[in-house]
Amino acid sequence: MKEKILSGLNLCKSYQDSNGVLNVLSGADIDIFKGETLCITGQSGCGKSTLLHILGLLDKPDRGKLIFEGKSIDTTAKNVNLFRNKRLGFVFQFHYLLEDFTALENIAIPRLITGESHKKALSDAKELMLKLNIAKQADHYPNQLSGGEQQRVAICRALINNPDIVLADEPTGNLDPKHSREVMDLIMQLNRETKQTFLIVTHNPEIAGLTDRHLELLNGVLVER
Ligand SMILES: Nc1ncnc2c1ncn2[C@@H]1O[C@H](COP(=O)(O)OP(=O)(O)OP(=O)(O)O)[C@@H](O)[C@H]1O
Ligand SMILES: [Mg+2]
Repeated sequence: MKEKILSGLNLCKSYQDSNGVLNVLSGADIDIFKGETLCITGQSGCGKSTLLHILGLLDKPDRGKLIFEGKSIDTTAKNVNLFRNKRLGFVFQFHYLLEDFTALENIAIPRLITGESHKKALSDAKELMLKLNIAKQADHYPNQLSGGEQQRVAICRALINNPDIVLADEPTGNLDPKHSREVMDLIMQLNRETKQTFLIVTHNPEIAGLTDRHLELLNGVLVER
């Protein structure tokens, strides 16, 4: 029996702007199982990033519930940031590396936040860079990295605290087909080695064909593909 790690129940989210109310999520349900790779596709603007931010506890739904390992998550609890930092890894659509820090430091920061020593955080970060084949760029600042390298640094940063789930928003969005395939192969390899769960938002049908399961966000709800 597959074990659920994170579920979203009846997730609703709307935005209000000068044009009126925009319903983005209208009762989306999702079950994410331990150790799987799952992708979400959908048209631009349909709410994929919104959904991922809610599942990653970076934003709150207007209505609905999140369940992690069988327990309801209180998104208003004080320790929610700590929980996110330890259990979830996030790869953003636009990598959001900190420009004033080197690649190595960018990766180490989430580890330092947990209270880890400088030395250990940096050596763990270096180890990940070796694994993802970007150790040579450790001392580069983000503006000294190629798009593919920036994306791999962002993946290292998401992995540094050994999260149970990695949520990746278009991790290959800015890459050419070759580098896109490399990043995806890397994600699939990590999934096999570490049994970490990967939830990937993508526009790319080829990537959608690689993951264990594929959901489409359509009119504010998720449909199995
Ligand atoms: N803070 C906000 N205020 C108002 N509207 C917003 C806000 N954030 C997102 N939206 C709108 O909500 C909709 C969903 O946005 P979202 O970024 O989730 O889409 P997406 O599916 O990730 O798109 P893409 O594939 O282009 O990344 C869009 O129409 C967007 O304009
Ligand atoms: Mg998006």
